[in-house]
Amino acid sequence: MEKLAGEKFFIRTFGCQMNVHDSEQLATIMTEAGYERTGDEGAAAVILVNTCSIRDKVAQKIVSQLGRYRTRKIKNPGLIIGVGGCLAQHWGREIFKRAPHVDLVFGTHVLHEVPELVGRVKNGYRMVMDTAFREDIPSLDICAAVTNGNGRLNLQAFVTIMQGCDNFCAYCVVPYLRGRERSRPAAAIIREIEALVGRGVREVTLLGQNVNSYGRGLAEETSFPALLEKINAIPGLERIRFTTSHPKDLSDGLISCFGRLEKLCEHIHLPFQAGANRVLERMNRGYTREEYLSRIEMLRKRCPDIAVTADVMVGFPGETETDFEATLTLMEAVRFDGLFSFMYSEREGTQALSFADKVPEQEKRRRLMILQALQDRHTLEKNRALIGKPVSVLVEGASKNDRREMTGRTRTNKIVNFAGSGDLRGQTVSLCITAAYLHSLRGEPRKEGKADVYRNEDRRADH
Ligand code: 5AD
Ligand code: SF4
Repeated sequence: MEKLAGEKFFIRTFGCQMNVHDSEQLATIMTEAGYERTGDEGAAAVILVNTCSIRDKVAQKIVSQLGRYRTRKIKNPGLIIGVGGCLAQHWGREIFKRAPHVDLVFGTHVLHEVPELVGRVKNGYRMVMDTAFREDIPSLDICAAVTNGNGRLNLQAFVTIMQGCDNFCAYCVVPYLRGRERSRPAAAIIREIEALVGRGVREVTLLGQNVNSYGRGLAEETSFPALLEKINAIPGLERIRFTTSHPKDLSDGLISCFGRLEKLCEHIHLPFQAGANRVLERMNRGYTREEYLSRIEMLRKRCPDIAVTADVMVGFPGETETDFEATLTLMEAVRFDGLFSFMYSEREGTQALSFADKVPEQEKRRRLMILQALQDRHTLEKNRALIGKPVSVLVEGASKNDRREMTGRTRTNKIVNFAGSGDLRGQTVSLCITAAYLHSLRGEPRKEGKADVYRNEDRRADH
């Protein structure tokens, strides 16, 4: 393969954290192949678009972005444009039809081959494409770049622990586009985290479509709680998070990790999707409203301060007004710290596509607005309840809006701004919350003054 040292590439990412992480791995692969990453699209010789196909709105955004690249390509015919990720996996050759200025299409399993595919384009091949599913996915083992755009080390890193999904929720394209669920061996995950910690990382987020079914099918069977125990023992690591969990696989063993493993942060993202049992059943979610609520109750019994966030959608086919109200009453019962809410979006190839009783767009919009207004009330209420309380904040750096301000996150994943200097970056400080807003909190150093780690044991539930 032709290796052109210093040639610049730019990556544009759409979609979820998983995609952001895939892009970081792709950046590492490209850098190792001799390319140089740039944050300036105009300076790039290769533009790689990492796409998402989860909802139609995102797909539409990507299509318009690809349209804008046409002008770039006309001005600079030597520019190489590659499109990868879920939408590329889904559309395949169709991308070349919709955007003939695209040179390369790559799927979700072949990131490690991108430099070679780019090389083929350079050698004069047109419409280069690889969207094959692979038995093993070498890029899963790539330790992604941990520097931000300024070459500064990041304190947080994502680590993939599993790929794919076997759940086949009726609305979801992921199982078709990311393939079957597979877990990475624990030893490889531990090695990666140790290497990251060696490079200054203090917090890891374990990634997977359904992390709590981790371990299925591995030669050396490991459960997710067992993996967490091992990660918790890594010296120098301070915080562990994970996403996403599926309510049907949230075992008692996992619940018991909260409040017991001191590095595991008090936050869980547990999508519920809908509040009515008939909708949950049609969605093929594998749990009832009652089971969901009982899991939340168990979590809170174990760890009273745990922050709970979730995904929910409105307007799934057949969702009646009464069903929608059941979603609202579930929200009232749980009082989430935050919620990602979506209007159901029709996806090709999914089961729900053939379901009757589609909910009109306007009605979906109305339901979404009602739901979001309720959630805003709950978020504010949850944040305000923290006023006067001590929190432990891992300081990430200066605030974007005001350089005299520092910003960081609580273990419950809430953003806290406070007056402080740059040398606090990377430290865990103890702050008292003085004000609460919808998207952030304000704090000030506690009377004791200096930084102290706020230990998990302080608020362990009785068990
Ligand atoms: N329509 C709307 N929302 C969807 N999600 C997944 N598929 C769809 C769809 N077809 C949402 C779910 C999921 C989140 C990542 O995106 O809430 O948890
Ligand atoms: Fe999609 Fe359901 Fe798998 Fe999540 S669990 S990725 S919603 S199929």
